[in-house]
Amino acid sequence: MRSNPTAKQLRRKMKAHFHRLISFTALGMAPLWIPLKLIRYRGHFLDGVSRSLAILLREVPLRFAAQRAGIRLENPFLRFPGIEREPTRLVPGHWTSSHEQIEYPLLMALCALLKPRRIFEFGTFLGEATLMFARAAPEASITTINIPEYEEPTLGIGEKQRPELLRNQQIGSLFQGGPENRRINQILCDSATFDINGHENTYDFIWIDAGHSYENVKSDSKKALAMIRKNGYIFWHDFDAEQPGVTRALLEIASNRKLFWIARTSIVGFQNT
Ligand SMILES: C[S@@+](CC[C@H](N)C(=O)[O-])C[C@H]1O[C@@H](n2cnc3c(N)ncnc32)[C@H](O)[C@@H]1O
Repeated sequence: MRSNPTAKQLRRKMKAHFHRLISFTALGMAPLWIPLKLIRYRGHFLDGVSRSLAILLREVPLRFAAQRAGIRLENPFLRFPGIEREPTRLVPGHWTSSHEQIEYPLLMALCALLKPRRIFEFGTFLGEATLMFARAAPEASITTINIPEYEEPTLGIGEKQRPELLRNQQIGSLFQGGPENRRINQILCDSATFDINGHENTYDFIWIDAGHSYENVKSDSKKALAMIRKNGYIFWHDFDAEQPGVTRALLEIASNRKLFWIARTSIVGFQNT
């Protein structure tokens, strides 16, 4: 016959239940707890998590949209054989954002491989890419255009990009005074009002990276398509989900031009064959 538990036995039973509850909760929390520990001990894990989320939520839809528009994703080593042998040098911009850590050395190697004689850049900023092109193609002359200070871009500019509207003395400051400067022609003008008369069919390599509003990218692209020589290349920067103006413009341009997207970058290219 079972006797009623004493108060002591009851307390012991309650304690055991409580311990079991704690163990199950800890086990249930493990999927959360392990990443949290990793974040604590390895700061870059957080980058990995946010990047994976960004890919899932934004980049995957962009990949589908690009595929539908006929923009092929290309491996740079297959599209440009020999690119791995080209030297790249460091310029400060390589560390300004995570994708530029890959993109700028790649772009520099591309420029070295293609050996353009005449280069045009939409959007000078401090002159990081300009300097990089000048070093990659030591025979080339480079023209770079940027809107002057206090001028409002005719075709708009997103709020995110507004801090990039620089003072005249900052625009191109990275190459000014350096040995490459004599091969660089700097134009201070809104690219939307820039007259391409005399620039048609002239450049072997064009880099489009000025205002990122849809209207501005369309306008720069239209000009670049008239300025590029036969077999020359146009490259656009920032084909990523955070730049809806750039992506919308390029998805449209792809309806009648064969564009390719360099894998693991935000660079889209076109060869004027
Ligand atoms: C992303 S930054 C260029 C970065 C540079 N191409 C590089 O790779 O180092 C964009 C630049 O375009 C300029 N810009 C914005 N709207 C413009 C416009 N409508 N015409 C010319 N330049 C413009 C900004 O002042 C800024 O300096």
